[in-house]
Amino acid sequence: MSELLDQYYELVLELVKEAGGLIKENISRQKTIMTKSCEVDLVTETDQLVEKLFMTKISARYPEHKFIGEENTSETNHKVELTDAPTWIIDPVDGTMNFVHTMPHSCISIALYVGKIPEIGIVYNPMLEQLFTARRGRGAFHNGAPIRVSGETDLKKALVMMELGTSRDPEKMNVVMENLKILTPQVHGMRALGSCALNMCMVALGAADVMQEVGIHIWDVAAGDLIVREAGGVCVDLAGGDFDPLSRRVLCASSAELAQQVAKLLVQYYPERD
Ligand code: IPD
Repeated sequence: MSELLDQYYELVLELVKEAGGLIKENISRQKTIMTKSCEVDLVTETDQLVEKLFMTKISARYPEHKFIGEENTSETNHKVELTDAPTWIIDPVDGTMNFVHTMPHSCISIALYVGKIPEIGIVYNPMLEQLFTARRGRGAFHNGAPIRVSGETDLKKALVMMELGTSRDPEKMNVVMENLKILTPQVHGMRALGSCALNMCMVALGAADVMQEVGIHIWDVAAGDLIVREAGGVCVDLAGGDFDPLSRRVLCASSAELAQQVAKLLVQYYPERD
C-alpha cells in the first residue's frame, strides 16, 4: 500500500500545482459568480473547473477511486457517502468569498482517505505560494520544511482562528457571535483568514494556537485535520470528544490541554450532518 500511496501523492501534488496555476490566473479576471445554499455561499466557474480537473485526471489513472467534492455534492444534491474505498475529498477553492473579492487567502484543500483513514492531506494557496502537506505518520510540511504546532497550553496566551461562516441561519449566527464574545476577553486575540483549511494550517504552522468552527463540511477539514495532527496538534469535536469529519464541527489546538479548555467554554451547536 505504501508504494501505491507514494504514487497517489506524486500525482496529486502535480495536479495541485496545475490547479493552483488556474486559481492564480483567474483570481484577478472577471468571474461568473453563482450562489448555493444562500446569497453568501458562492461558487465560481474556477471552483467547478478545478474540481473537474482533479476528478477527471485522478479517475483516468485510478478509475476505482471515489470522490467527495464540494461542487459535485452541491450540483447533484447527493448526501455525502464515505466508504472504505480510496476517496479523494476536495474543496477546489476554500475561501471562495476571498477569491471573488481578490483577497489572496484562498486555497485548494484535498485529502485522500483509505478505509476511512486520512492518508494524504494537501492545502495549497497559490497566490501566496503556501503549500502545506502531510502523509499519515510522516509529519507535516510547509513548502517542504517540517512544521510543528506552538505547543501553547495557556488559553490567555492563545491566538484563536474562527470564522463567521457562510450560513445566515439566525440560531447558528447567534452561537457564533456568542462564542466570539466568550473567547475574546480570555485569549490573546481572535483571527479569521476566510478559509477554514488555511485557518487550520495556521495552527499546524505554530502561527495560531486554536481554530474552531461549526457548520463547515468534510471538504473544508479533511486535509487540515491530518496536517494539524502530523504537526503535533490535536483535532477534536467542538465539545471535546472525538473528531468526526462528517459532523460539521471542528476544534484544533496546539495541545490537548488547550483544546479541552476551549471546548468547555463554547456554546454548542449541532448542524445537520454531511
Ligand atoms: C468556506 C470557507 C469559510 C468557512 C465556511 C466554508 P468555501 O468554504 O472555508 O472560511 O467559514 O464555513 O464553507 O465555501 O469557500 O469552500
